[in-house]
Amino acid sequence: MRAVGLAQPPALQKNIDMYRTHHCGELRIEHVGQEVTLSGWVQKSRDKGFMMWIDLRDRYGITQLIFSEEKSDAALFEKARELGREFVIQVKGVVIERSSKNPNLPTGDIEIEVSELSVLNPAKLPPFTIEDETDGGDDLRMKYRYLDLRRSPVQKNIVFRSQLALEVRKYLSGQDFVEVETPFLIKSTPEGARDFVVPSRMNPGQFYALPQSPQTFKQILMVSGLDRYFQIVKCFRDEDLRADRQPEFTQIDCEMAFVTQEDILNTFEGLTKHVFKTLKGIELPDFPRMFYDDAMRLYGSDKPDLRFGMQFTELNDLAKDKGFVVFDSAELVVGIVAEGQANYTRKQIDQLTDWVKRPQIGARGLVYVKYNEDGSFKSSVGKFFNDEALKGWADKMGAQPGDLMLILAGETDKTRKQLNELRLEMGRRMGLMKEGDFKPLWVLDFPLLEWDEEAERFHAMHHPFTSPKKDDISRMLDGDFETMKSLRADAYDLVINGAEIGGGSIRIHDRALQAKNFKLLGFTEEEAESQFGFLMGAFEYGAPPHGGIAFGFDRLCAVMNGQSSIRDFIAFPKNNQGRDMMIDAPAPVAPEQLDELRLELLPEE
Ligand code: AMO
Repeated sequence: MRAVGLAQPPALQKNIDMYRTHHCGELRIEHVGQEVTLSGWVQKSRDKGFMMWIDLRDRYGITQLIFSEEKSDAALFEKARELGREFVIQVKGVVIERSSKNPNLPTGDIEIEVSELSVLNPAKLPPFTIEDETDGGDDLRMKYRYLDLRRSPVQKNIVFRSQLALEVRKYLSGQDFVEVETPFLIKSTPEGARDFVVPSRMNPGQFYALPQSPQTFKQILMVSGLDRYFQIVKCFRDEDLRADRQPEFTQIDCEMAFVTQEDILNTFEGLTKHVFKTLKGIELPDFPRMFYDDAMRLYGSDKPDLRFGMQFTELNDLAKDKGFVVFDSAELVVGIVAEGQANYTRKQIDQLTDWVKRPQIGARGLVYVKYNEDGSFKSSVGKFFNDEALKGWADKMGAQPGDLMLILAGETDKTRKQLNELRLEMGRRMGLMKEGDFKPLWVLDFPLLEWDEEAERFHAMHHPFTSPKKDDISRMLDGDFETMKSLRADAYDLVINGAEIGGGSIRIHDRALQAKNFKLLGFTEEEAESQFGFLMGAFEYGAPPHGGIAFGFDRLCAVMNGQSSIRDFIAFPKNNQGRDMMIDAPAPVAPEQLDELRLELLPEE
């Protein structure tokens, strides 16, 4: 008996080759005179009556086909005329030089004078145009994702993603990292979001959780002596969705043993430089480093966009206790300088004031000071501060004549967040976020804990396995609120152009310290044991010092291409309601399936 399914028989192989001799992005002036066969999709046709052109598209580009009443066979000409958009066709013909060339198209010097045409598959009229600029809205494009994926900009993104994965694998393998797959059906990992849960048929009433990240597994691999681990891996988080967040997304997840924070930063700065160099041709200089506290003080954000300056200046000493109640009652008075914007009109200032007062930003008002070219000042607080006082502000803020100073006041954390939003908005309005400009930085020494107002308790800011800084360990269980807030961790983020691309930490590798950290986070001993007994148990069998990082792979793809939405870098993304519009998921399951899982749906309220 012959084996089936291995190699193709030679005849069939030849047949497949016959579909095309070249692809649609390949032919140039030097191919003129050659007989070629092309296959692809009809992008559009232009019918001039006696002459007709068709743009034939495949993954590699577009080639123009020409049919003419004069030269083409009459039946062929008629057949071409019947082709609709997105028909899949095969043509045979000769490459000729175009009389009117298209310099915007790599194949724009030539066209194919077609002698044979076969329709491989007709197509219904697509619901949106399949061109670089489409008329399709988001929902429609998601429903017909297979058509959207035919568009060149989306295809380019998907190909870029594949190349990025390849370069990451090359680089990390070259540094002795081992790619290890970790399970998807696990127990919950406390990464801060909700878990997606999966009922277990064989263990009724019990559930797996899909991993929010492989965090505990990668630490266990260090205990196992794997030493350098990585994985390009799907992670699942049931959280509110935004342009840079998907419920299932991909991480470049990494862990290393016997390393300090310095080793990790250097290794992954190296990876980042490598992918920018190989895929974008950009040599990034060494990444600046900033402490979390400084990032918050100077930019009001733990992920500052360093493509432009506009650092914050705190004005408490100059602005408070001068009789202006808004400032006097504020914990923080802080401002930025918008260079060369003193010519903002009353209307523009009012607009900006309304903008910061929107509920999404939440400022109570906006104080402006125009430092006019002639050295005079115009301000919304002129009643309380004379020109001399305002000159003092300008000097402190580094403002020059022609600049506009924008100032907010209120409770420290909130005001910083609001001014961060205003800074970014001014950056956008002033065109300071330049395309092709990449400004990475490391943000270091994140707080160990974060106060959760709603739950009235502390959470781990990164995750509960993060090591406190050595000097802070002794203060860990002091219990006093301010001490807890001031604890710092060996945790770091990689930020590029204001996007959090990656985050990681040095881990706790000692059972007693891990237990202490769980206690700090409000776990009882039993809770800690039942959820993480396996990890703490592993720490008792010779856990090496270790640490790691995970990059948001989708975000890295988007940022490297100057985009903020990750959706177009994911072949089949979910919409903002977490739905896959193409396959229409999530969806109900059959009652028998529920029975088998011993699950019962509650009636809707
Ligand atoms: P963290 O939770 O910071 O760390 O995640 C690492 C990076 O993953 C990306 N990311 C996301 N991307 C798209 N959609 C989402 N919903 C989403 N959530 C996170 C971000 C982020 O910086 N286990 C730790 C890493 C470690 O400590 O080594 C972790 O998962 O770019």
